[in-house]
Amino acid sequence: MIANRKDDHVRLAAEQQDRLGGHHEFDDVSFVHHALAGIDRSDVSLATSFGGIDWPVPLCINAMTGGSTKTGLINRDLAIAARETGVPVATGSMSAYFADESVAETFSVMRRENPDGFIMANVNATATVERARRAVDLMRADALQIHLNTIQETVMPEGDRSFAAWGPRIEQIVAGVGVPVIVKEVGFGLSRETLLRLRDMGVRVADVAGRGGTNFARIENDRRDAADYSFLDGWGQSTPACLLDAQGVDLPVLASGGVRNPLDVVRGLALGAGAAGVSGLFLRTLLDGGVPALLSLISTWLDQIEALMTALGARTPADLTRCDLLIHGRLSAFCAARGID
Ligand code: FNR
Repeated sequence: MIANRKDDHVRLAAEQQDRLGGHHEFDDVSFVHHALAGIDRSDVSLATSFGGIDWPVPLCINAMTGGSTKTGLINRDLAIAARETGVPVATGSMSAYFADESVAETFSVMRRENPDGFIMANVNATATVERARRAVDLMRADALQIHLNTIQETVMPEGDRSFAAWGPRIEQIVAGVGVPVIVKEVGFGLSRETLLRLRDMGVRVADVAGRGGTNFARIENDRRDAADYSFLDGWGQSTPACLLDAQGVDLPVLASGGVRNPLDVVRGLALGAGAAGVSGLFLRTLLDGGVPALLSLISTWLDQIEALMTALGARTPADLTRCDLLIHGRLSAFCAARGID
C-alpha cells in the first residue's frame, strides 16, 4: 500500500513538471541592477550557515522518496548526485520503514552511496521520539526533517484526520532526537504565525516549502476516485511570500517549493533564506536523463549561483540580503495585506 503510494507520487510529481510554467511569484522579485556592484569571483564563497548548520553550498536535494524497490533506486541516484556535487540531500518520509523494516535498504542506500555527505532523515509529525531516533540512526543523519502536510493528508482518502497532537510531538522530538530539527511544509508554505510557534518549540530551522512547484493537493486528487478536491489547486503561500512573511522572525529559514533555476535560488537567499531546496525538478531531470543529467544540472546551477553572486557583489550567500530588491504584482499585494514593509 505505502510502496504503491510512493511510486504514484514519483510518477505524478514528475508529470506535474510539464504543467508548471507561466507566471510564478518568484518573478515578482527583481534585483535593482547596480552596474558597479560586481566583485571578483575568487572572493565569492558558496558556503552557508544557518541555525548552527554548515553547508558547503546553499542548495539541497529536498525530501522525496523511499519505501519501494523503484524509489530505492531513485534514492541511490540522488545520493550519488549529492556526493558528486557536495549538495546536502534528504530522504523521503520514513513512515514506510516504521511500518516494514524490510524496506530499510531503500533509505540506507543513500548513506552507503554518500558516506560523508550531509544527509537529512525525514519523518511526519506523528512520529514518536523513538521512531525519530531510529530514522536518524539508520541514516546516520546529520539533521532530521519533520514534514507538515495537513492539506495533503486531507485530500488523501487514507490520510490522517487528527492534527492536534502535531505541535506537542514536534516539541518532544526536538528535545529528544539529538540532531538539529528542520520543520518543513510539502508545498503549501509556512506562515509567520507558524514560524513563531516552531521557534517557541525549539525547532532549529524551518523550510518554508511554499506553493508554486510540486502540488500535493493535485497529486492526491489525481490518485483518488472519491470526491474531487481540485478547488484546492491554489491553496497556500508561495515561497517568496513565505520568505517575506518571515522577515524579522528569529528562526532561520530555507527556501523551497517551486525553485526553477539559479536566479530563484539567489532570489530566495536575498529574501533571507540560508539555502534553497529543490525536489520535483531534480526528480524529473533524473528520471529523464539519469545521474549524468542531474549531475550536470546541479553543477551548472552551482556555477551560475556563484556567477550571479559575483555580479551582485555578494561574497557569501548571507551578503545577498543586502541587495536592493523590487517586489511587484501579486507578491506586493501579499505584503500589503500582511502589513509587510
Ligand atoms: C515530496 N515532498 C516530500 N516532503 C517531505 O517532507 N516528505 C516526503 O516524503 C515528500 N515526498 C515527496 C515526494 C515527491 C515525489 C516529491 C516531488 C516531493 C515534498 C518536497 O520535499 C517539497 O517540499 C515539495 O516538492 C516542493 O518543492 P518542489 O518540488 O516544488 O521543488
